[in-house]
Amino acid sequence: MDRLPVVELHLHIEGTLEPGLIFVLAERNGVELPYADLAELERQYEFGDLQSFLDLYYANMAVLRTERDFTDLARAYLARAAAAGVRHAEIMFDPQAHVSRGVPLETCVNGLASALGESEEEFGVSTVLIAAFLRDEPAEDALEVLEQLLAMNAPITGIGLDSAEVGHPPRDFVALYDRAREAGLECVAHAGEEGPPEYIREALDLLQVARIDHGIRCLEDEELVERLVAEQVPLTVCPLSNVRLRAVDTLARHPLPRMLGRGLNVSVNSDDPAYFGGYIDENFRQLTELFGFTDEQLAALAVNSVRSAFITEERRRGLFAEIDEWRRGRS
Ligand code: HPA
Ligand code: ZN
Repeated sequence: MDRLPVVELHLHIEGTLEPGLIFVLAERNGVELPYADLAELERQYEFGDLQSFLDLYYANMAVLRTERDFTDLARAYLARAAAAGVRHAEIMFDPQAHVSRGVPLETCVNGLASALGESEEEFGVSTVLIAAFLRDEPAEDALEVLEQLLAMNAPITGIGLDSAEVGHPPRDFVALYDRAREAGLECVAHAGEEGPPEYIREALDLLQVARIDHGIRCLEDEELVERLVAEQVPLTVCPLSNVRLRAVDTLARHPLPRMLGRGLNVSVNSDDPAYFGGYIDENFRQLTELFGFTDEQLAALAVNSVRSAFITEERRRGLFAEIDEWRRGRS
């Protein structure tokens, strides 16, 4: 086995919508795109910050209309992820971004669930679905959509919090997370991507999340770093995303090696790979090329993601064994 077996913990399924599929779905659904051709669409993928990416990300979702569209989207990701060495994927989706466009919740959930339900058999990738809520929309709307997901018995394992971070602190979503926990759901939240270290603290203390998505700005707060190390809070880091959204200047200056050096529980993830120049294998490839990660370090990153996944202990042991086997095969 040549490819490092990995687990993806931070992935937005809508962020895997490739330009080519956007054109296919637009044609199939009679949706008019504001771009003459693929090349013109591809010229839009230059981002100055998180918001400039989000504008394109939400606009492109206009082509996702039917259950089949969501199934095709997820299947395309799972096939690509399998080729990248992904053995388990925890997949976020943004229900509010579809409901607000008039796409019924059932369409989106059933479409995704159909692809995910066949994934182990078809692609050898186990999956978990996480409903992410939009922090730049009213918290009451998020709670209403969560209630609908619970009422329809949607196959979700957890909830997350994403979209524009600054000015939308975790403290606004306490009721949402209380309800999710009461319903037995796992809790994660984006924090410390563009927002301050304080948002990471709030996500831990007020939302009681099990993982922080991104979390790179923790390094600005020594006391917080010490706590994250002591508690081994998983931080799902997305290097290529951080470069494309200018959270860091260049990959060479990415804080990942420093975070690893401090003993933080960091993993490598792809976030929105269709937008940020590569899937999880490309993240690992560029990191290895720049920082010269050894097989031991790569295995340690994969181990961190397995430690932090929402899976049974049996599955966890199986994935640890695969990483061990990879390491032995390399030496
Ligand atoms: N950050 C915040 N919200 C998001 C992202 C991200 O990287 N991707 C999709 N929604
Ligand atoms: Zn994200």
